[in-house]
Amino acid sequence: MPIAAVIGAQWGDEGKGKVVDYYASFAHVVVRFNGGANAGHTIVHKGKKFKFHHLPSGSLYPNKINVIGNGVVIDPKKLIEEIRQLQASNIHPNLVISPRAHIVLPYHFALDGAEEELKGGLAAGTTKRGIGPCYSDKANRIGIRMGDLLSKDVFRKKLHLLHQIKTKTLQHVYGKDFQYSEEQIYEEYCGYASLLAAYVADPVLLLQKTISSKKNILLEGAQGTMLDIDHGLYPFGTSSNTSVGGACTGAGIAPSRITHTIGVVKVYSSRVGGGPLPTEIFGKDADFIREKGKEYGTTTGRPRRIGWLDLVTLRYAAAINGFSGLAFTRVDTLSGLGKIKVCTHYLLDGKKLLFPPASYWDFEACKPVYKEFEGWTDLGQKGWSAVAKKGFRLLPQQAKKYLRFISESIGVPIYFVGVGESREDAIVLKEVFKRK
Ligand code: IMP
Repeated sequence: MPIAAVIGAQWGDEGKGKVVDYYASFAHVVVRFNGGANAGHTIVHKGKKFKFHHLPSGSLYPNKINVIGNGVVIDPKKLIEEIRQLQASNIHPNLVISPRAHIVLPYHFALDGAEEELKGGLAAGTTKRGIGPCYSDKANRIGIRMGDLLSKDVFRKKLHLLHQIKTKTLQHVYGKDFQYSEEQIYEEYCGYASLLAAYVADPVLLLQKTISSKKNILLEGAQGTMLDIDHGLYPFGTSSNTSVGGACTGAGIAPSRITHTIGVVKVYSSRVGGGPLPTEIFGKDADFIREKGKEYGTTTGRPRRIGWLDLVTLRYAAAINGFSGLAFTRVDTLSGLGKIKVCTHYLLDGKKLLFPPASYWDFEACKPVYKEFEGWTDLGQKGWSAVAKKGFRLLPQQAKKYLRFISESIGVPIYFVGVGESREDAIVLKEVFKRK
């Protein structure tokens, strides 16, 4: 009865989609448990690129059950687009949407923009997908859930309250006129409800049955640990628990049930949005990595900030999540550089720090201390694919040295090494599910 969670170990965009896509092939049920349309997973399947914002990565497999858990905030319009994108390729996902998942409404988009404008230097540089305002309403118990949307009376009643609160807030606090009437939103969202109703069912019972019948469950995280609302770089992160605790609450799975927690580590750092990033680099190495790795946001298209790998935040992520294994991604992207650096610790006021400080202003003042490695040559697409077939042993010597150093420093074994875009370009050192 293995249950594996795949968690971003850095700032999001670690390449979790590829890792989830691999392990999902042996799972019966795949559950997305946090975030919303702020996330973007790109999966290359049979030479075709699929961009998912809400859909679990298992959606490409015809025989899996894919759950959107209660911890997700759903933009129904976007979700319908994603389902249609698959249907256009003749893929019909077996999808279950939790009635407890909250709905992103037009007020949330408007507030996301207005709040960010006012925050100035404290703005997180959000994806403008209404994520923060939607989770705020959830915590404030005025949110509208998927289940509410299916009951016209309940939806009308809750929408009426929300409309008053939000239009007043937008107008009187932010000086913004809100363009939608309550009736327009009601009609539009009733339309979405009718399209999504067939997928809405309580997944908790389904998950319990899956556990009882000793089948495999994969819990798919969005974003990364450093964006976690509690453990990330507050206030520059997102509004959900991106770490493994979020998998328990956002899916309805007890912590004691999780048998493997896989931390996905891109072999360098990238970040979209504001806030300090101690290992950030600029100039030719940053440009080289950004262009080679196509490091532009899947959701927003923004160029990502680039940095060397940071063992301080990774050590913290490993502690918070209790990683049982590391999945490295983008070893091919980092090839072709003369020297590669890894931050082993920070100095803050002359003091050595192995874990990040809790406050962003201390984090900003941290000076990274690096260990330097020789780079490795780019083997080209064919060369990397050949390595993927032959295994870890055939990776370039310097790459092996680099990956082993990270794994040993953190004290977590290597489960997976990604060396290219497609599903096949991966070296799997540890299976978490039995192959059927
Ligand atoms: P929000 O989640 O849109 O509210 O954005 C909050 C912060 O998290 C911003 O700095 C975003 O750039 C960042 N963020 C949100 N989702 C992702 C993601 O999927 N990958 C990387 N960064 C993200």
